[in-house]
Amino acid sequence: MEQLFIPDLNEQVDSNRMRSYPLLRYMGSKYKLIPWIYETFSSLEFESALDAFSGSGVVSFLLKSMNKKVYSNDFLHFSSVISKAVIENNVDQLDENDLESLLNMDGHADDFIQRTFDKVFYDKDDLVFLDKVSHNIRCLSSPYKQALAYTALFRSCLKKQPRGVFTISGNLDKYNDGRRDLQLSMESHFIEQVAAYNATVFDNGKKNASFNGNVFDFSEKLYKPDLVYMDPPYVPSSDDNCYTKRYHFLEGLSKYWVGEEIMENTKVKKIKKKFTPFSYRKTAIEAFDQMFGKFAQSTLVLSYSSNAYPDLETLAAIMKNHKTNIEVRTKPHKYHFGNHSTVSRSKVSEFLIIGRE
Ligand SMILES: C[S@@+](CC[C@H](N)C(=O)[O-])C[C@H]1O[C@@H](n2cnc3c(N)ncnc32)[C@H](O)[C@@H]1O
Repeated sequence: MEQLFIPDLNEQVDSNRMRSYPLLRYMGSKYKLIPWIYETFSSLEFESALDAFSGSGVVSFLLKSMNKKVYSNDFLHFSSVISKAVIENNVDQLDENDLESLLNMDGHADDFIQRTFDKVFYDKDDLVFLDKVSHNIRCLSSPYKQALAYTALFRSCLKKQPRGVFTISGNLDKYNDGRRDLQLSMESHFIEQVAAYNATVFDNGKKNASFNGNVFDFSEKLYKPDLVYMDPPYVPSSDDNCYTKRYHFLEGLSKYWVGEEIMENTKVKKIKKKFTPFSYRKTAIEAFDQMFGKFAQSTLVLSYSSNAYPDLETLAAIMKNHKTNIEVRTKPHKYHFGNHSTVSRSKVSEFLIIGRE
């Protein structure tokens, strides 16, 4: 089983709990860097934290496991559904009755997924299952159970997509290396993932919350997080690191495409990408300055890497405009995913830039 390698951390966090967090293949995920990020967090004093770009939710889960009050935010809806399930939700799990109705209730589901994604992603049986289970999820009474079921479904979809992204479609036989994840039906994956995510639900005694919005719209004056962790996207060297482009199917699925317009002329039936100023050279520097200013009352922790723009010196100088003490911690890191060009390019240094009073 894929497991997070976490050496036994000290008494501030339950290492076994951290290890149980399901690995989601998510671009830029800090999953493998969790022990290092943990070291930094445990050296800082704070009770509440905002994970401003939560993605796969793994850093929020670390913070929750450290018994902090956690606010998770991402502008992608599916990502905020994950944090609703595993961060905000302190209690609800899917029991046998829930699973029974999710799998077997025949509530005259719509056939949108079958019609739209025929010969694009997955086989007919899987598409029929996705329509049915989507309908049944929305019939669950608790919003937390709904979020948990969706989260299990997202991971099922990622596992059955050969490269874990939705940029490739059609006949994907050439990627079929016989691995179990590609053989299993979507329904069998879903059953396994419900168990995996049920195991992540725990109560840390705090009123945690999940938000689905632009980082610049977060109400810092209302929530006053002691610490803000920022892991924004990087300015890409090519067009292939857009989150909507890679995960549009999960974003659509998380709301059954309600309110999203499919770009019919695209082969993979994409939805429109969301603008973020962090992805463009023209707007990135201004965006960092604005973000650090917005959260200037909190301790700032920024994740960044040596192959990104702007460079470390520039970022540290921008943070210095808003905080007195700037400290940089460095770790060599090799990305295994999200950078499939040359080996040397995937060797980067990871930085944590910390800003304090
Ligand atoms: C590098 S990923 C975060 C990965 C995350 N720390 C993890 O370990 O899984 C960047 C995230 O920022 C989100 N994002 C990009 N621009 C945003 C914005 N302006 N406001 C909020 N979220 C944004 C993306 O949807 C993506 O999930």
